[in-house]
Amino acid sequence: MLHSNFATRLVDWQRLHGRHDLPWQVSDPYRVWLSEIMLQQTQVKSVLDYYPRFLARFPDVASLAAAPVDDVLAQWSGLGYYSRARNLHKAAQMVMAEFGGSFPPEREQLERLPGVGRSTAAAISAFAFGRRETILDGNVKRVLARCFGVEGFPGDKAVEKRMWTLAEGLLPERDGDIGPYVQGLMDLGATVCGRGKPVCGVCPMADGCVAAREGRTGELPVPRPKKIQPVRQTVMLLARHGDKVWLQRRPPTGIWGGLLSLPEFDTTFAAEDWLQRRGAGDLLPAWPELEHVFTHFRLIITPQPARLDALRAAGASEPDGQWLQIDQAVDAGVPAPVRRLLLRLASAD
Ligand code: ADE
Repeated sequence: MLHSNFATRLVDWQRLHGRHDLPWQVSDPYRVWLSEIMLQQTQVKSVLDYYPRFLARFPDVASLAAAPVDDVLAQWSGLGYYSRARNLHKAAQMVMAEFGGSFPPEREQLERLPGVGRSTAAAISAFAFGRRETILDGNVKRVLARCFGVEGFPGDKAVEKRMWTLAEGLLPERDGDIGPYVQGLMDLGATVCGRGKPVCGVCPMADGCVAAREGRTGELPVPRPKKIQPVRQTVMLLARHGDKVWLQRRPPTGIWGGLLSLPEFDTTFAAEDWLQRRGAGDLLPAWPELEHVFTHFRLIITPQPARLDALRAAGASEPDGQWLQIDQAVDAGVPAPVRRLLLRLASAD
């Protein structure tokens, strides 16, 4: 792919085959900004539904800035990722207080607004002010990785930096082309160069595209490297007496902080020891292991049922523990895997 051809092809293609009827394709920076924030983590289809309603309630940046944040959140309700709505409100107030009620045209200034990163700022600057700026969102990274054969995971900082440089070098020469160009990047990524099955037959870049030429559209962009998550092991004791189970409150910090949970041990021996020090009781055969995935590690749980013959565990010496009816324990706000184990315990006999 010749770098110099890219913009011309894209602009020509966008004018013929791109999207021209989206309600935010206007020059009002407020409307452009609002649409870009809504579109950050939400599909066009849903935004088409919310956008006009939001605008009817908050027709300009002044009305948005003056509204109570709860009204903004209420209008946002259903779009998800509510920090976007809080940032939207804060940004509107900042436009009023620091920019005299008008959005600044420069990308660097727009980036100062809460919730507006470099790519979103570039989109606003290009769409609303015709500035020569390029976006680089997930869709565009996919297009560039395939077209230019960019190796490496695009979420990686160094790869992303290379992509920004590449993207900056592709901008069209004529200022008047920037709108269709940026929209073309979005449209190509959304309608032709899709994640699953790109439709290379209708792509204006197909004959110059590295991935299409080399049959590597399935390999580019390079996917996120699989992290090998550390593994932790724990034995969870299901100490049962009749229809009651022994639960302990977890320390206030750390995983499952402050929740009621089953007593945990590093080994089965430690669980057995705990049981013996409390009087009569037998370990039953362990249940199959259970895996619970946290963001930074996997927890392998060995569920260890035990039958206690007497209710000797409870007492002032163990203020963090309590006997609970098994069915009450299920509803007591326990961690998800513990809840599964308690449900199983309730149906086991
Ligand atoms: N996704 C993000 N911004 C968009 C826009 N302006 N049009 C369509 N999809 C988008």
